Amino acid sequence: MKTGEIRLASLTKANQALVASLELAPDQMDFVASNAESLDEAASDGDARPRVVMAGDRMVGFLMYEAPQDDDEARIYRFMIDRTWQGRGYGKAALREVLDEIRRLGHIRHVSICYEPHNEAARQLYRAAGFVEQGLDEDGEMIADLAFAADDR
Ligand SMILES: CC(C)(COP(=O)(O)OP(=O)(O)OC[C@H]1O[C@@H](n2cnc3c(N)ncnc32)[C@H](O)[C@@H]1OP(=O)(O)O)[C@@H](O)C(=O)NCCC(=O)NCCS
Repeated sequence: MKTGEIRLASLTKANQALVASLELAPDQMDFVASNAESLDEAASDGDARPRVVMAGDRMVGFLMYEAPQDDDEARIYRFMIDRTWQGRGYGKAALREVLDEIRRLGHIRHVSICYEPHNEAARQLYRAAGFVEQGLDEDGEMIADLAFAADDR
């Protein structure tokens, strides 16, 4: 499977159970809220934009972001690839896809993301995509920001 075949799909009644069954390695559990929790949030928060990550016909991950109409900042606040499918370039491809989707919305100038400071995989992934670390927030999480170039939008 080439990473070019990664695409994002909507969350539906039919695929939510599969989203909830995606797994992280035990030492990654603290890095991101559980997908069950994210599904609850997606159902109750009108700004939440949940997306499932598909590699061909197979669901390999899940992410969620918000990009309110009255703001120029989008925030990616959930991002995970199932433990079985990590390390194959799917995270990188999914990040590229979601950034393209956010860029196409047209009203967003920058994207923020946050992660545990000792989450090396996340740090490398986001840095390679152009995110710049801004420092720790009040909960001790690293915040990183990506500014879209004016001609990207
Ligand atoms: C972070 C995560 C999404 C990466 O997904 P992935 O599909 O494994 O990542 P990829 O194979 O596309 O790798 C992309 C880059 O991430 C980095 N990376 C991935 N796994 C890594 C690891 N174990 N250690 C260090 N860097 C790593 C590398 O820089 C890699 O680029 P490279 O292959 O060119 O060196 C995945 O590890 C994950 O779901 N982790 C648990 C949840 C989490 O931490 N989410 C982010 C917090 S919001």
